[in-house]
Order: sequence, then C-alpha cells, then structure tokens
Amino acid sequence: MSDPGRGGGAWDAALEPEILVLPTPAAASREAAQRIALALTAAVAARGAAHWVTTGGSTPGPIYRHLVGDELRTTVPWSDVHLWWGDERWVAASDVLSNALVCWDLLLRDVPVPLEQIHVMPVGAALESGKGPEAVAEAYITALRGAKLDVDAAGFPGLDVVLAGIGSDGHLFSVFPGSSTWDDPAWVQAVPAPTHISPRVARITLHPLIMGAARMPVVVVSGGAKAAIVGRIFGPREDPRDLPGLLARRPGGIWILDDAAAAELPSELRGTSIE
Ligand code: 6PG
Repeated sequence: MSDPGRGGGAWDAALEPEILVLPTPAAASREAAQRIALALTAAVAARGAAHWVTTGGSTPGPIYRHLVGDELRTTVPWSDVHLWWGDERWVAASDVLSNALVCWDLLLRDVPVPLEQIHVMPVGAALESGKGPEAVAEAYITALRGAKLDVDAAGFPGLDVVLAGIGSDGHLFSVFPGSSTWDDPAWVQAVPAPTHISPRVARITLHPLIMGAARMPVVVVSGGAKAAIVGRIFGPREDPRDLPGLLARRPGGIWILDDAAAAELPSELRGTSIE
C-alpha cells in the first residue's frame, strides 16, 4: 500500500504531478514552452478558447522566447488565447519589476493575442488614478467572472494552464507562507509588501486555491538555490498554508525542473528525467 509523501519510500504516482528533470535551465524552459503550446492548442480545440495564467519573476522570460520562436509560434491559435496573471507587483506598468512588462516585451509583440483578451492586472491605471490595490483586486475579480469559467466545488475558476515559479520560501503567486489570503474566499486579493523577500513591494495575487482548480498547473524551477524548497515540497506533506507551493503538487500538474533544482528531489520521484 502506498503512503504518499511520507518520506519513507513509497509514493503513489496517481497522487503526484508529472515531474520532468532536464539537464539545463534552457532545456527546462524549452520543455515548458512546448507543454504550454500543446495545452493551449488542446484547450482551444476542446472549448473554443484557452485561458492561460502566466507568472512573474525570472521564470517566464525564457519560456516566452521559445514560444515566439519558429518551432512553436505558428502552432498555437493565439487569437483564441486569453492571458491572465497569477500576481502583479504594485509598480508602474513601465517599471522593470512589472510582471506584465516582460510579457509585452518578449511575447505579445510577436503573437496575435487580441488586446481585449490580454487581462493585465490594472496596477498602472490604478496608480495613475489614485486607486489602491484593493480596487485592482476587485477589478480583476470582475474580469475573471466575466470569462464565465467553470468553477470547482470550492467555488474557484478552472483556468486551463496556470504557470508559476516557486519562491525560495515556497511561495506561490504572491501567497507567502502564513498568508491571510486563505481566510478570504475572494478570487483576487491585495497583499502587503513582504519584508522577507524581494522585491519588497505590495502585490495583487490570485487566491492560492485557483492553482488547486487549474486544469493544468505548470511549475518551472531552475537553479540550486531552489533545490531545498523543491525537496521540501516533495517531502512529507505539510500544511499548504505554511508551504503554498504544495497546491501544485497534485495530479494533472507538471513540474519542470533543471538538474540543479531537482538535486534534493526524493529519488522515487526522479523517474522522468530527460537527458
Ligand atoms: C513575483 C512572482 C513570484 C515568482 C516566484 C519565483 O511576482 O515575484 O510571481 O511568485 O513567480 O518568486 O520567482 P522566479 O521565477 O524568479 O524564480
């Protein structure tokens, strides 16, 4: 009998995501881009539209570069793709810290996603008009509700692909360990500036259970600095409030790691290395 995540040997593959270990960060980004392209294409074929939540940090840039490359750009029906963000920082739209900016620069100039389907969290507009982070969260809830997505039993919308990186503390989106977002069912929430992790600016974040409701969570992690947190996420199960990244450790998800990030992955889970 299996005893998933108990740290003693037997993991039940049926309760785990697919885990791919690639030799380099570049190979991991390429694999992620291929998986995202396939999933978006399949969602459009199945439901007429694909809803993709993308991320910030350093993870998405190299993935966008692969998506606009010759191999993938023309394989995705971009005109039926809706783009959303898992979180945004409280900075101007033109600030290098903006999670949306890298997407405009590296992806959206080269693929024909209609403007009305690019659902940026409207932080820039709020700053210009003197509104606060709560108003942005409210506006984003309205936008998400307008997409009329199916909701799961817990009341959260099922987006097709939810791409995320993982913070070195195990955060997911801008849901940090101990976050109060769990106590409020609002789909999108304002988060005060973290004091333990950069950049120390306020954020707007999706509720962590939106990762739980995703049709396909895709987590991409590279570098030895993340090895310990990846090892902890795939160790004995903890309370996700202490370790939000656990929300993506579930069937139907894909974790794409480079060798360095996978260094502390339990050996039972290293069955899917691509060398
Ligand atoms: C943010 C993020 C955050 C990020 C992780 C991983 O706005 O800071 O969206 O959740 O995805 O911290 O960051 P890296 O991609 O840089 O590893």
